[in-house]
Amino acid sequence: MRYYVETYGCQMNVYDSKKIEEVLTAEGLSRAARPEEADVIIVNTCSVREHAENRALTRIGELSLKAAPRKAVVAVCGCMAQRMGSELFKNRAVRLVLGPDSYSKLAGYLRAAVTDGAKLLDTARDRSFRFQASEGFRDWGLRGFVSITKGCSNSCSYCIVPAVRGPAVSRPRDEVLKETLAQWRSGVRDVTLIGQNVNAYRYGGTGFSTLLSDVAELVPEARVRFTTSHPRDMDDSVIGVMAVRPNVCEHIHLPLQSGSDRVLESMNRGYTRDRYRAIVSAARKAMPGVSITTDIIVGYPGESVEEYEETYSFFEEMQFDSAFMFKFSARPGTAASRMSDEVPRQEKERRLARLMELERRLASAASARLVGREMEVLVEGRKIKDGVELLTGRTRCNRTVLFRGASELSGKLVSVRIDSSKGVSLSGCLVSA
Ligand code: 5AD
Ligand code: SF4
Repeated sequence: MRYYVETYGCQMNVYDSKKIEEVLTAEGLSRAARPEEADVIIVNTCSVREHAENRALTRIGELSLKAAPRKAVVAVCGCMAQRMGSELFKNRAVRLVLGPDSYSKLAGYLRAAVTDGAKLLDTARDRSFRFQASEGFRDWGLRGFVSITKGCSNSCSYCIVPAVRGPAVSRPRDEVLKETLAQWRSGVRDVTLIGQNVNAYRYGGTGFSTLLSDVAELVPEARVRFTTSHPRDMDDSVIGVMAVRPNVCEHIHLPLQSGSDRVLESMNRGYTRDRYRAIVSAARKAMPGVSITTDIIVGYPGESVEEYEETYSFFEEMQFDSAFMFKFSARPGTAASRMSDEVPRQEKERRLARLMELERRLASAASARLVGREMEVLVEGRKIKDGVELLTGRTRCNRTVLFRGASELSGKLVSVRIDSSKGVSLSGCLVSA
């Protein structure tokens, strides 16, 4: 039997999908290259915006048609499964609807679906890390994720995540270390600690900065990253660890959401623009060249033109290296979905387009500033560009660099001088391997 997995949404889903593949492999299934060749089709979904859900629904429809000839089992997993539950069975090909806390029982459910054609729904909560407990899938390649928290205990007014993923739970420190080590041994050279709000990690007496330091010490030759940080909980101790541990990469993904204090308060974010500015200054002071990336929502209910302009000018002031930008999407059950004063769709689009233009300009400028510098690059593999075979790799600040070199360098840290930039991409030449 063969499986096919399609993943939408955030790094949590990427991680969960890897673990799902691990379970399926342990059950004796192998990966199918195309959905038409699979006996089990899994769609791991995201609910964060309505658009993401609509796209997934369309895709589930398409995949159901592809499943028909082999009578393949279609399983909908992830946040939409949690949110929509049995509604998803309206599509008759869908046989399993499994929320993110149910995957530890996946193998059994799958057997039941395959052998008796059962339809099963499981959206029960499980606060443990049972499903994630394995010591690492062999198939991460060079870049691996290690989950350190699941769920989220914040109550940002616009966000559906706490409802679908439940309250925050921190994973035992030992398990985090065990999985990190297993990934290193299987060839991972760039580890990202993941959670909805990594700064809120606390297990026993261990907080996030200690965990980060411990992980960095455990695999000193691997790069270590983390995401996502929350400006309310990000503290100097994390910046301190980043500055002193040479293998922790100088990159902070720090969602701002809005540059207006009134909007931030209505969003219940728990910080002001001054506080945000102070974190960024402290990080830049401790680590010149640190990359700061962010998330922004435009068109939040009641966002005035002036408030949007505050976001725009603050974005420019912060000189973000890159950003994900979204139009506000009302999510069922959230506080913001009950607010009046909706920003008209066209106005949201206008605000988004203008901000995206600024982002492109700043991101290109950030790349251009790297020209002439010698940078540490983790070689990821080969790439053909304009008929020439080149190596591709990433800087510590996570930008892609193309350069000439021998393919044996894959997986190694090398030094590359940046010669030119085009948009965000960089080209350079090998200085030393
Ligand atoms: N509408 C638009 N964007 C949203 N995000 C979260 N919820 C919503 C919503 N309802 C964005 C935030 C978050 C990112 C993962 O998605 O910017 O940081
Ligand atoms: Fe999407 Fe949030 Fe679920 Fe991640 S946790 S898949 S971003 S809804």
